Amino acid sequence: MQSTMSYTARFDENNQEIVLAGSIRPKGADELAELRKTFDRAIQATRGTLYLNAKRLVQLNNAGFQEITNFVKSAGLQKPNLKITVITSSYVGWSLRKFSLLQKIGSNVTVEQYDKDFYPGQSVLEDSGFIPILRTQTKMTWRHERDLLPRHGLKPAMAVADICCGIGDFAALVYKEFQPSRLLAIDHSKPSLAYARKVASDFHIEGIEYVHGDAANLLVEDNEFDFVTCRHSLQVFDRPELILKELFRICKPGGRVYITNEKNSHCLGEPRADSIQWTYNEVARLWAHFKMDIELGPKSRRFLLDAGFDDVQVESFMVTNRDGDPQDFADVIASWEDVYAGQMAVQRGDTAEFIARFRQGFQDHISAALHPKGYAGWPIWAASARKPR
Ligand SMILES: C[S@@+](CC[C@H](N)C(=O)[O-])C[C@H]1O[C@@H](n2cnc3c(N)ncnc32)[C@H](O)[C@@H]1O
Repeated sequence: MQSTMSYTARFDENNQEIVLAGSIRPKGADELAELRKTFDRAIQATRGTLYLNAKRLVQLNNAGFQEITNFVKSAGLQKPNLKITVITSSYVGWSLRKFSLLQKIGSNVTVEQYDKDFYPGQSVLEDSGFIPILRTQTKMTWRHERDLLPRHGLKPAMAVADICCGIGDFAALVYKEFQPSRLLAIDHSKPSLAYARKVASDFHIEGIEYVHGDAANLLVEDNEFDFVTCRHSLQVFDRPELILKELFRICKPGGRVYITNEKNSHCLGEPRADSIQWTYNEVARLWAHFKMDIELGPKSRRFLLDAGFDDVQVESFMVTNRDGDPQDFADVIASWEDVYAGQMAVQRGDTAEFIARFRQGFQDHISAALHPKGYAGWPIWAASARKPR
């Protein structure tokens, strides 16, 4: 039998957590010496609850599972009061079923499935109602990003990953423009991925791997990609630093991570600037209610430096009604109004009066975009940084 042993087992003393990742498929128990050492150290160093994080463990054969069973038994014998919590992932089909067997060993073992409840804003974003927003936005931003991406280090024939790819339109554009050697696009929304696959098939694009996954626990090896993108997405998480940690991990040393984010309260328009300003200040508050930070754009530099990157480059650009057909920008604003006023404000329980005023600002922004002498803008921060060698 072929042994497949590409796993890592790390004990994080601070979080009392053993993190397993990769594939544990040994030929015999002797190949598991390293794993056993990690388990022993963890049992010695832990009090209360020891977490066994198996979210990124993609394969496990019977010998590997037996070793984990022995570890749980041995923990129970050495420290009868120690609780063990195993965390599985919904992306690894067998994981919950298999690890649930450990609960038979004793009442000190619990098995949990990590799921979308971890992200407060996710219910809004995973809805297919979000698709029109993403479609119209990318159409507007690509004009700018096509030119600025090479300045941030994107070159042809690179291995590229687009994390939180949404409906995959950016990945498709990168594929056509930069011909990457590999292009992996991951998102947590099944409707968005279904849409992405359909567009790729309609456009006869066969080289993009669209994969369902969790940006905070990517089933991807360390140091795999030259260029990792994550657009308009750090701003949707309550803890963006967890996503950045993953972007850092999968990026090759010397490679770059590229992020774009907004500061929605800086959206502007003339005429009727005050009404427009009021509404976008309220958009920022509405997103904060769902624990998302649509004001993150100018904070990008700090986030990248705190995550361990160097050579940070930040630039901002303004999408406006002067970029091509003004109706395109009016469509973006109309899609925001639909979701922010029609769905999110309703979900928050806002009054009819508030929603009417909230909608008015979007309508005024649309009028500014379409007005023969009007001006309407949406500022975006594009930042990239290098993973140190
Ligand atoms: C604002 S959209 C941006 C999408 C795309 N990058 C774009 O610019 O069009 C945020 C995306 O993050 C995705 N997302 C949310 N939580 C996620 C998670 N835990 N893992 C992966 N994707 C997630 C949503 O499904 C959504 O497609």
